[in-house]
Amino acid sequence: MMTVPDFSSLDGRVVLVTGGAGHIGSAITEAFLAAGSSVMTADVCEPFSTNRHPDRYRHSVVDLGDNGAVHGLVDETMERFGRLDVVVTAASWMGTDETPGWNSSFAEQDEELWPEVLQVGVTSAFTLVKRAAPHLATSGGGSVVLLSSIYGFCGPQPAMYRDTGINNVAGYAASKGAVSQLARWLSTTLAPEVRVNSISPGGVFRDQDPTFVERYAERTPLGRMATEDDLIGPVLFLASDLSRYITGHDLVVDGGFSTW
Ligand SMILES: NC(=O)c1ccc[n+]([C@@H]2O[C@H](COP(=O)([O-])OP(=O)(O)OC[C@H]3O[C@@H](n4cnc5c(N)ncnc54)[C@H](O)[C@@H]3O)[C@@H](O)[C@H]2O)c1
Repeated sequence: MMTVPDFSSLDGRVVLVTGGAGHIGSAITEAFLAAGSSVMTADVCEPFSTNRHPDRYRHSVVDLGDNGAVHGLVDETMERFGRLDVVVTAASWMGTDETPGWNSSFAEQDEELWPEVLQVGVTSAFTLVKRAAPHLATSGGGSVVLLSSIYGFCGPQPAMYRDTGINNVAGYAASKGAVSQLARWLSTTLAPEVRVNSISPGGVFRDQDPTFVERYAERTPLGRMATEDDLIGPVLFLASDLSRYITGHDLVVDGGFSTW
């Protein structure tokens, strides 16, 4: 009989994480390494920490805007580790507060930014999974986890943002709706060998405007914004055999924000 440690084991699995230099990508990478997996991270930036198991960790500086580079990433993972079991896409073009036309009111949001948002968030995930699919199919436990967002299925509440300097960006929300649907689409196409799910986190605390944080917490049944560590359990659950009969699911990790 399989035991819980058998189902939850990620020891020896090879995991590819995009956005691996980001906040959530870094937390996920550390968790997979601690679970005994080998991890290839990819990001346009260098990682926060380079002090990781050299035998089980590699980082590739890759621009996911370049589909050829996305293919190269899968090839590099296979060359380095010889197999591929799990793909987690956590890359997202988030702009910055200073990017004109990004963190702006509806009237000022710039549609010229949409192609980049969609390329990094959606198209590169499609390209990556297409290239990875034959390897995932022979893994025996192939699993894909796409990071989406509650804004892929919820509309923003304008009152939460009022006078905080924070805006909710339509292009980002539209890209996340596409990510969740891409996961559903891939789940039936790649079954039964590969499972594909998405995760929709709520807002993660990053020292945002205190008024915004307070309003967000008031609207959240669990009373606070998310932390990066809140995403670790859900990602590892979907990556492991604990979820072996789950595919095509969007796992909402938002402290109940979207429940009422
Ligand atoms: N932070 C939140 O509140 C929140 C909420 C819901 C969902 N999410 C999602 O979770 C995922 C991780 O978010 P995060 O908070 O860690 O964001 P983050 O900005 O810290 O990480 C995103 C990473 O993507 C990388 N990236 C951007 N453009 C790239 C490109 N062209 N090529 C390669 N890498 C590129 C960035 O360099 C960055 O390291 C994202 O998909 C995000 O949309 C985040």
